[in-house]
Amino acid sequence: MKLPEYYLTGCELEIFEDQANNIFKAFANGDNAFDLIELGAGDGTKTAVLVDHFLEQHSDIFYSPIDISQEALDALSSKFTTEFPSLKIATRRGDYFKILKSLKNGGGRRKVLLFLGSNIGNFSREQAVDFFRQLRGVMNDSDLLLVGFDLQKDPHVIVQAYDDKQGVTAAFNLNLLKRINRELNADFDLGKFSHYAIYRPVECAARSFLISRERQTVHIGALGRDFEFEQWEAIFMEISQKYSPAMIGELAADAGFEIKQNFCDSKNYYCDSLWRPAE
Ligand SMILES: C[S@@+](CC[C@H](N)C(=O)[O-])C[C@H]1O[C@@H](n2cnc3c(N)ncnc32)[C@H](O)[C@@H]1O
Repeated sequence: MKLPEYYLTGCELEIFEDQANNIFKAFANGDNAFDLIELGAGDGTKTAVLVDHFLEQHSDIFYSPIDISQEALDALSSKFTTEFPSLKIATRRGDYFKILKSLKNGGGRRKVLLFLGSNIGNFSREQAVDFFRQLRGVMNDSDLLLVGFDLQKDPHVIVQAYDDKQGVTAAFNLNLLKRINRELNADFDLGKFSHYAIYRPVECAARSFLISRERQTVHIGALGRDFEFEQWEAIFMEISQKYSPAMIGELAADAGFEIKQNFCDSKNYYCDSLWRPAE
């Protein structure tokens, strides 16, 4: 996320730094008290910019970051408790798909849900609609949802974000094979696979693959099975959907929301879209 080619992080940070006050006004909606619930919070670096501003405005917020990774939550906790000693915070470890239902009533306070970092880009359209409908199901009429979308742009800029010069994204993807070796007792030879990323402008999506450089057999001990790879056969690793403003509007409508306000960066690379339940 810190790579120069991975523009997404910098764009979302710019939006939060430059537009924190407008975001605050939109969240507060005349009422400074709300629960800020973040799905897949990671280390919360960008959210810290918003929280800092909200506290300066003497808002009464309760921050509830949810993540599947305990390591990420520990990093977030130590950062937030040091930087914001007055912040009311309770981290929750778990799968946000499973935790969703328990968000329904909360403490009776207004909820603002955050789903940042273009995480939604990793969902297919059907999965995205289904996910947002589930979120709609636990939201009251005055609750809000802020979603980070990566926008369509020059395909060269996009593809570099998934194929950086230092090879960090390649190493990140190959690391999945390393983990399968370690955790599932497999024998992937990482030297026999290479990372390949493309952007498909017609479907507006970046895709990444690991390509088997030769015909080979891999054994996964935990499954007690062999897997045959033809030479140049691809393992599909990740999709990262890019959106136009029209696509964001259609997605919101299909999931039962309407757009309250969009916050975009100065290059129009990225959009944090604030949704409210449709009437
Ligand atoms: C790409 S990071 C983004 C972090 C942060 N939202 C940001 O924008 O900087 C995605 C985060 O979501 C978490 N995550 C992924 N799938 C999850 C799930 N099903 N339930 C909870 N957390 C999840 C990961 O552990 C990771 O910290």
